[in-house]
Amino acid sequence: MTMRERSVVVLGVTGCIAAYKAIEVMRGLQKAGVAVQVVLTRSGRRFVAPLTFEALSGRPVISEMFAPDSNREIVHIRVAQEAALLAVVPATANILGKFARGIADDFLSTLYLSCACPVLLAPAMNSEMWNHPAVRENLAVLRERGHRIVEPAAGMLACGTEGVGRLAETKAIIGGILEILGAGRSMAGLRVLVTAGPTIEDIDPVRFISSRSSGKMGYALATAARMRGASVMLISGPTSLPAPAGVDLVRVRSAADMKDAVLQRFPLADIVLKAAAVSDFRPLAPAAQKLKKDSQPAALALALNEDILALLGESKKSQVLVGFAAETEDILNRGWAKMAQKNLDMIVVNDVSSGVFGQDRATVHLLRRGRDVETLSDETKTTIAHRILDAALDLISSRATASEQG
Ligand code: CTP
Repeated sequence: MTMRERSVVVLGVTGCIAAYKAIEVMRGLQKAGVAVQVVLTRSGRRFVAPLTFEALSGRPVISEMFAPDSNREIVHIRVAQEAALLAVVPATANILGKFARGIADDFLSTLYLSCACPVLLAPAMNSEMWNHPAVRENLAVLRERGHRIVEPAAGMLACGTEGVGRLAETKAIIGGILEILGAGRSMAGLRVLVTAGPTIEDIDPVRFISSRSSGKMGYALATAARMRGASVMLISGPTSLPAPAGVDLVRVRSAADMKDAVLQRFPLADIVLKAAAVSDFRPLAPAAQKLKKDSQPAALALALNEDILALLGESKKSQVLVGFAAETEDILNRGWAKMAQKNLDMIVVNDVSSGVFGQDRATVHLLRRGRDVETLSDETKTTIAHRILDAALDLISSRATASEQG
């Protein structure tokens, strides 16, 4: 099979009153120089005529699985091979359900199963439907698969009620699509080492010391870097997250295991993102057998774990080294201090005073020497991941410029 160039955004349009807004999305993409192939579902056709999309996109709209003029070509495979991104705008509860469960009973749902490209979904529906447990479950499955969900907004809905369910602003949808497409090119050839999750330090075979870290930030970074074409090594403490596609995942348990895995791979990396919440302490003498309550120790003796990030800071050569800091007070000053102590190029300071662990969104500050602090307020971890990667790439290109000038 010859490889086709992935040069087209496939825009799926499903049957919902907001379908007309897909025209604006298509126009916005075209203005940015992106070619668009529209796939209109049967119910989508009831809201917008194929001719509108055909005239504006300059390409025939695809709707049927077995169109008479398809010339024996397997159209969904051809379109899947050409797709740089599949965006569904608007996405009904029905298409979310079909994508989540792998039902392929029309062109769009069959195409979805054939696509290896990133997927962006912009749902729109009545707020009762949006809040229904079945829809919530389907969304969770789709998010876990790494798809970008551009969440609907609150406002007046077509059914005459107020609530969440309106298609997101077209600007946000176009921005999300362009972000993913731009992302597709920017890190090819770079090797990125990411650490994620908590570490576990055994007290005895049953009990342990750990932290509330879910690993979501590190996994979002690994996924985003992979999506941008980087080769990614992810060293992860125990989490319940699925392995990101295309990433070299190494699972570890304790801070000591993480240290060995990181030090071994560090010389190979161009960018290191230390999102893991490494345990600072471990029990000095873990018990080989379960501690019984009648032999309760008076205190738990702890030993300090080595600071992996500080070790990397001491031995780094050309790597861009990015640390993280979880802080509850005097956040920025502590961030600057950790950056200096550990010889970092950037630090991402996370305000954990309001219990952000396990959430999909966070507020962080990006600190780099000689630059203004960049604050990302209540953003999704995917957006934060992309901004961190942009900032790391800026550091690489400003070094390159400095060495050309020097
Ligand atoms: N880190 C590490 N090895 C450790 C402890 C922390 O590599 N043994 C890294 C984390 O991956 C993170 C950064 O250090 O990137 C900051 O972690 P944080 O817990 O905020 O700070 P500490 O340096 O441990 O300082 P403190 O707990 O005193 O705030």
